[in-house]
Amino acid sequence: MMRLISKIKLINPCLVAFLASVFLAGGSAQATELLHEGITEPKTPWWQHAVFYEIYPRSFKDTNGDGIGDINGITSKLDYLKELGVDAIWITPCFPSPQVDFGYDISDYCAIAPEYGTMADFDNLLAEAKKRNIRILMDFVVNHTSDKHPWFEESRSSRDNPKRDWYIWRDGKNGGPPNNWQSLFGRSAWKLDAKTNQYYYHFFYAEQPDVNWRNPQLKEAMLDVDRFWLKKGVSGFRLDAVGCLFEDPELHDNPVLAGTNNFGDPNTEFKYNDHYPEVHDVMRDLRTVLDTFPGADNAVLVGETSGPDVKSISEMYGKTLDEIQLPMNFHFAYLNMRSAPEFRRLIKEWNANPAGGWPLYFFSNHDQIRHYVRYGDGKNNDAIAKLMAAMLLTVRGTPLLYYGEEIGMENNDPKRVEDVYDPIGKIGWPKEKGRDGERTPMQWTGGQYAGFSTSKPWLTSADSFKTHNVETETKDKDSLLNFYKTLIKLRGHEPFKNGDCKFVDANDPNILSYVRPAYGHSQDCLVTLNFSDKPVEFTPLLTGQAITFPHGEENVPLSKLVVQPLVPADASCSKAIYRGGDTLHMPPFGVFIAEIKRSN
Ligand code: GLC
Ligand code: CA
Repeated sequence: MMRLISKIKLINPCLVAFLASVFLAGGSAQATELLHEGITEPKTPWWQHAVFYEIYPRSFKDTNGDGIGDINGITSKLDYLKELGVDAIWITPCFPSPQVDFGYDISDYCAIAPEYGTMADFDNLLAEAKKRNIRILMDFVVNHTSDKHPWFEESRSSRDNPKRDWYIWRDGKNGGPPNNWQSLFGRSAWKLDAKTNQYYYHFFYAEQPDVNWRNPQLKEAMLDVDRFWLKKGVSGFRLDAVGCLFEDPELHDNPVLAGTNNFGDPNTEFKYNDHYPEVHDVMRDLRTVLDTFPGADNAVLVGETSGPDVKSISEMYGKTLDEIQLPMNFHFAYLNMRSAPEFRRLIKEWNANPAGGWPLYFFSNHDQIRHYVRYGDGKNNDAIAKLMAAMLLTVRGTPLLYYGEEIGMENNDPKRVEDVYDPIGKIGWPKEKGRDGERTPMQWTGGQYAGFSTSKPWLTSADSFKTHNVETETKDKDSLLNFYKTLIKLRGHEPFKNGDCKFVDANDPNILSYVRPAYGHSQDCLVTLNFSDKPVEFTPLLTGQAITFPHGEENVPLSKLVVQPLVPADASCSKAIYRGGDTLHMPPFGVFIAEIKRSN
C-alpha cells in the first residue's frame, strides 16, 4: 500500500473557461461496430482483454439495512455490472476479520465475514456471476494474518509451540525492539508480546503479524487457501502486498533518510524488509497451484506490486512469465500529473517491459485518493474523467476499474479526527487523513443514503452523489457512466483487445495520440487525447511503422484516409474535431477515436 498525499500538479494550470464538455467526444451513443464483426480473432487468454472491477464489499450495496455492504448486495448489482461491461470482479477481503484494517486482517481465510453474509450467499454470488459470464477474484492477503487468527494465537502461546515459526519472533536488543524497522503504518514494526517476552514483526498494523513464508507448513497452509477458493470456482486472486513477504534474516537496520514521514517517524529506506528475491519462489508456487488445479480455467494472479521502477515491477511477471500474469503498475496509477508526455513515457516503458508481460492499468483503488479528484481541476472534472477513461480503456493493456469511478465518485475525507475509521488516519492526522475518503458507499441514486442502504451507512458519500449516481447518469446520454459503457463496448473489439500501440504524436506536449494497428481482421484505429485545457490543432504523424497500411509508405496524411469516428457514433463532436484535411481540432480535454483506413 502506497498512498498519494500530494496535490495534483497540473502541467497546464491556465484557467481557460472553455466549455470542454460541450466539445468533448463524450456522447453516449453506441460505439460504431467495427468492421468484420464475427470473424474469429487469434485466441488470447481471457484476462488479457477482460475489464476488471474492484469492489470494496463494505461499501458497494447493503441489503439487510445495517449500513454496511454485503455479499448479497454485490449479487443484486450483477446486472448493473454486466450492463457496464465488466468481465471480472475483484472483491477486497470479505473474510472473518476483527476489521482493524477493514478486512486486511484476516482471522479465517476460508469463510465469509458474518457481517457480509454466509458462504451460501457467496456460492450464490458465484453461481449468479457465472450465469452472466462474470468471473470472481478473491483478495489473498499473503503477507500477514490477523493477530486473532488461530495460527497466531497458537504461535504466541509459547516459544516452543509448533506454530511458533509460522510468524517472525525475535528477541529484543538493548531493551528495545530487535532493529529499527518501521511499520508502513507508522512506528516500530516490532511488538513485544509479554507472554513469551519476544517481539513479533508486523509490516502493517500490530494487529497484522507477518507470517513466515520460510516455514514449509505455513507455506502449504497458505497454498491450501488458494486451493479452497479455486475449488469453489473463483478465477484467481489479487495478491496483497506481495513485495514484503520476506525480510533479511540477519535483521540489518534499514538506512535512515533525512526528514520525517506523515506519522512523524524518521524516514527510512525499506532496504532489508522489501523485495527479497525469495518472493519469486513463492509467486511461482502460487502460479503452479493455479495452473495445475483441476478445473481452474486459466485462473489469474493480479499483484499489488510496487517497486522503484518499471524493471523491478516487471520482475514480478517472472523470467519466463511464470509468476504473476498481471502485476499492477503503480507508477501509472500514481502519476500525479495530467501530463501527456509523462503518460506517453510510462506507457512506452511498460509496453517494452523487460519480461514481455501484458500490461495492467488502473487509476484508483481503496488505498488511494480517487482519480476524479486527483486529475480534476475543479471545473471540468467530468470532462477530465472522460479523458482519463478514454486512455485507460483504449490503451494496450487490461483495465482495472474501482467501483464508482464510472460515475465520477469523489473522495469524502473525514473533516474531524473523531470521525476517522482507518487507523492510519488516526495516527497520522491531520497530514494523513486515512483512506475512508475513497471508500464511501457506492452512489446508486440521488435519494436517501445514495440508495446504498435503508439506514445510515458506515461512511457518508460526498454531496455530489445527488448528481453523480447510477440512476441519474443512466438516463443522461452524455454522462460519464454512459461514456464508460461506450468505451468498454469498443474495447471488446480488435484492435483494442490485443493489438499493439504505436504513438503518432511526435512527443506533443499536450496531445497523446496512438494508433492501435489492425489486429486479426480489424482496421487501424486512431486515438487522440487532449490533456490540456486549451484547444489544440493536431496533425497525427501516421508513419509506415505506426499504421499497417498503405504498406511501405512514410507519413500518410489523414486526408488520404477514410476516417470513421467510433466514439461518439453520432457525431456532432467528432465532426467538430475532424472536418477533413490532415488536422484534428482538439477541444480542451477532447477525445477522438476513429477507425482509419485506405479508401478503395
Ligand atoms: C494492501 C491493501 C491495504 C492494506 C494493506 C495491508 O496494501 O491494499 O488496504 O491496508 O495491504 O494489508
Ligand atoms: Ca449489510
